[in-house]
Amino acid sequence: MRGAPSLPRVQLRKPLARAIRQGHPWIYRDALAPGPPLPDGALVLVADQARRPLARGYWDARSPIAVRVLGGAELADASAEVAARVDRALARRLEGLDRALSPSTEPGFVGPSPGGRSEEPFQRSWPTDAFRWIHGEADGLPGLHVDVYGPAVTVRYDGAGARAFYDGLPARLQQIGRARGLPVTAVVERRARGATGDGAAVVLGRLPDGELEVRENGLRFGADLRHGQKGGLFLDQRENRALVRGMANGRRVLNLFGYTGAFSIYAAAGGARETTTVDVAAPAIEAARRNFARNGLPQEAARFAAEDAFAFLARAAQAGERWDLVISDPPSFASSGRALTTGLAAYRRLHRLCVMVTAPGGTLCAASCSSHVDRAAFAATLRDGARDAGRRADVREMRGAGFDHPTVAQFPEGDYLKFAVAGL
Ligand SMILES: C[S@@+](CC[C@H](N)C(=O)[O-])C[C@H]1O[C@@H](n2cnc3c(N)ncnc32)[C@H](O)[C@@H]1O
Repeated sequence: MRGAPSLPRVQLRKPLARAIRQGHPWIYRDALAPGPPLPDGALVLVADQARRPLARGYWDARSPIAVRVLGGAELADASAEVAARVDRALARRLEGLDRALSPSTEPGFVGPSPGGRSEEPFQRSWPTDAFRWIHGEADGLPGLHVDVYGPAVTVRYDGAGARAFYDGLPARLQQIGRARGLPVTAVVERRARGATGDGAAVVLGRLPDGELEVRENGLRFGADLRHGQKGGLFLDQRENRALVRGMANGRRVLNLFGYTGAFSIYAAAGGARETTTVDVAAPAIEAARRNFARNGLPQEAARFAAEDAFAFLARAAQAGERWDLVISDPPSFASSGRALTTGLAAYRRLHRLCVMVTAPGGTLCAASCSSHVDRAAFAATLRDGARDAGRRADVREMRGAGFDHPTVAQFPEGDYLKFAVAGL
């Protein structure tokens, strides 16, 4: 993490001083006056349009986001501040996991005996040992995402500026983790697909061959961290999966875009009569089968389809198949503002098909991970999709990501996950 005795200055040419003072952490390149080239990761002093010192942040030489803001102009020691924020972020996660140990807080909770966490090292004694440690901007650590998978940690930097600025982070994570009872034996860096071939590299320690086994609310999952962006779990849905466990008893459950079957495993653990997991990626479906075996759940009541979800739904609707609980968690259909119209149309089409296969009186849980789609627009795709199917969907709850993926009001871009629970 770099510090600098005398900081290069960059100057705003757009009137953004108020937003930055209120905590918005991004400054786009076109909001800055032209200046000399700076290296990735350089700490900079941002001046307002009247040349008054405003904020400190780090530089990215290529990203459209030229500066990620760390704090006010008075921030003296960025390196010490980063270390303090990394530590605070972990303390908050451990407190959150501690709170979740109370069986009364989660329906269908499977946890350790009453009395809570023992003094044993974290990985051996907690019912959940996979969670997000650092959630970028919301933790005051812009451009940085860190996840814990039992004894291993994954790191993702948003661009070369972040990678250079947080230089030395893996050893720092190990040190801070150890001090809080979280031994970190391996750090894996996740990179954008194509940057390195397999998309992930072990940058500290050793990772065992094959899948690691981690726990979530007492259930077991394999995580193949060597395989880039998709090798872990979608940790942001943990609390929504717990909700599904509480709703599944005696029901026929369809899990669309099911990845490695996590929602299906929770549903089966919650007493579902039958689960069907659909994902277009055959390796994900194989991993889902292994996850059922890992949890000792009966395979007879578990169906799997390695298939396009739209094609599966069209066939099932045509055949008159019905499920009591349908879960839909697709990849983002609107990854940019420009793709919003087509994205919303795709959600509406998907929701029409989902509604067609949901039994009368059943429940549809529909998710979107696109930050460009707000809650009201997403709810409208459910309402309109149901109407297209000649039915009515009552959105009873609109949830988001778990406590370890916090959102902050001054950074609405970070509020990406929606999880609607609709009655039909
Ligand atoms: C956001 S992830 C789902 C995460 C999952 N619900 C969980 O809790 O682990 C989206 C999944 O959709 C799958 N997918 C993408 N396009 C698909 C399609 N057209 N049909 C079925 N699955 C698809 C991907 O392979 C990926 O596993």
